[in-house]
Amino acid sequence: MRRGGWLFALVLAATPLQAQQFSDGHAPEAASALATGQKTAAGRDWMVTAANPLAAEAGVAMLRAGGNAIDAMVAVQLVLGLVEPQSSGLGGGAFLVYWDAAAGTLTTFDGRETAPRAATPTLFQNAQGEPLAFMEAVIGGRSVGTPGTPALLETVHKRYGRLGWDAPFAPALELAENGFAVSPRLAGLIASDVATLARDPATRAYFLDPAGAPLAEGTRLKNPAYANTLRALREKGAGAFYEGALAQGIVAAVRGSANPGGLSLDDLRDYAVKERPPVCGAYRGLNVCGMGPPSSGALTLGQILGLLEPYDLKALGPASPEAWRLIADASRLAFADRERYIADTDFVPVPTKGLLAPDYLGARAKLLAGDDALPEVVAGMPRWDHAMAPPARADGAAPELPSTTQITIVDDDGNVVSMTSTIEAGFGSRLMVGGFLLNNELTDFSFRSHRDGVPVANRVEPGKRPRSSMAPTIVLKDGRPVLALGSPGGSQIIGYVAKTLIAHLDWGMSLRDAIAAPNVLARFDAVEIEAGTTAEALAPGLSELGFTVKTGPMTSGVQAVAITPQGLVGAADPRREGVAIGE
Ligand code: GLY
Repeated sequence: MRRGGWLFALVLAATPLQAQQFSDGHAPEAASALATGQKTAAGRDWMVTAANPLAAEAGVAMLRAGGNAIDAMVAVQLVLGLVEPQSSGLGGGAFLVYWDAAAGTLTTFDGRETAPRAATPTLFQNAQGEPLAFMEAVIGGRSVGTPGTPALLETVHKRYGRLGWDAPFAPALELAENGFAVSPRLAGLIASDVATLARDPATRAYFLDPAGAPLAEGTRLKNPAYANTLRALREKGAGAFYEGALAQGIVAAVRGSANPGGLSLDDLRDYAVKERPPVCGAYRGLNVCGMGPPSSGALTLGQILGLLEPYDLKALGPASPEAWRLIADASRLAFADRERYIADTDFVPVPTKGLLAPDYLGARAKLLAGDDALPEVVAGMPRWDHAMAPPARADGAAPELPSTTQITIVDDDGNVVSMTSTIEAGFGSRLMVGGFLLNNELTDFSFRSHRDGVPVANRVEPGKRPRSSMAPTIVLKDGRPVLALGSPGGSQIIGYVAKTLIAHLDWGMSLRDAIAAPNVLARFDAVEIEAGTTAEALAPGLSELGFTVKTGPMTSGVQAVAITPQGLVGAADPRREGVAIGE
């Protein structure tokens, strides 16, 4: 694409959309996403939703230039790595769920980070075998896994992209060279993380001024190092990331940090994206499909919905503590299984089919038939399809921090992208190389490797991919996509996606209202309620039912697209800076 062409497209993208009433139930806004931070949009041909307006506009530019959903996704991701650097980027990993309209097939791509060859199960333990304090593990090279995002972008673009490989680089390159305005969210997050961002000289120089003050909102920020990285990738492909000067810089940063890690040039050179079959769960006549292990996303979401299937949530409604009792305890049961069984299937057997088997879920669902909160929740005994006795498994412990980003795109051929992308915690390991941050994804492994001699499935092992909660999802009806969504938020991601689906499918809310509805979820013991929302009124009722209730901020970032007979409806979470743009 000629230089500057995407800016032209951007102006076109600002053309007001004609507001129309869709079966989704509300009139989408009609205005420029850049000007207004547009949260909903209608489209007949295509839809792009992303966590930042500049990133969404980059995707739009690709579609207007004749590209498809994959071209758009690559452009969106490259811009997100610049304007939302705390959440995802070249130094991280991602899962892509992809509907190929021409083939009529759904597939998934695993671009998850891998543990270096040098990693051992005691990576996050002290000399006494006790888990390290979490942030002690996060900051520095120890937590850095081999990034997967560059390889994922190249792999899927080679296979599906319609524009040349150079086209999706144009928006990010222009913004990196000429600068972009630091968004309110980025400025706020930098200000709240000054101490850790100051530890690495390159990170400090980028996010703080020479006196150590955080970048202010609206500051015009250029990133020449990122521009150089983009040019190298554009000219030489992802190989420019995994070998040569950039790879050497990454290894030097990881090994030379005050909390060094073991990443090597061999680890980078050998990184491979894995295509895996989607994992689907049934719900209300639909197939809810997503990323299987090493993500727990689709399995745990599928279990929550499968456990709720026998219960009439529609009749109960969203204001009923009884509805939330069912959702909370279904989630606790699913999380108990997740903690016990789900890990990278290339390293440990996982009863993937057994966890979603209707007879297993039906039996577990009967546990919800009482009136009160379950006093105790433990993992079940799913069927194993492996030719072996069920292995002994101990529960793991991997506290995930709420960062990450979601990209959801539908193009005019009907291809659908649902991709969740991350560097794990906000600002990842806080190490910066080549204008991007390196992940701390290895802290998604269990810090405990064993309990009483029994191994934890999600323990660290060389070459293994840490278990994720990312839940990029595509919902199928009669074998065709009708909805695509996902969210950031660490292990709360699964609850955010479940709530959105239940609010939309059971309670008939529009996509916008389903996303905006207060977040209420459970993972382990407590029910978590989003502070400052009407859901706080549920707290006394849920306490009476026997739950421990916690209230706090729950900053989901759901980006979703509904594919309806009348057209496309896009919606972005009002809690963040994301937008939906459609035509
Ligand atoms: N690091 C976030 C996730 O993979 O779930």
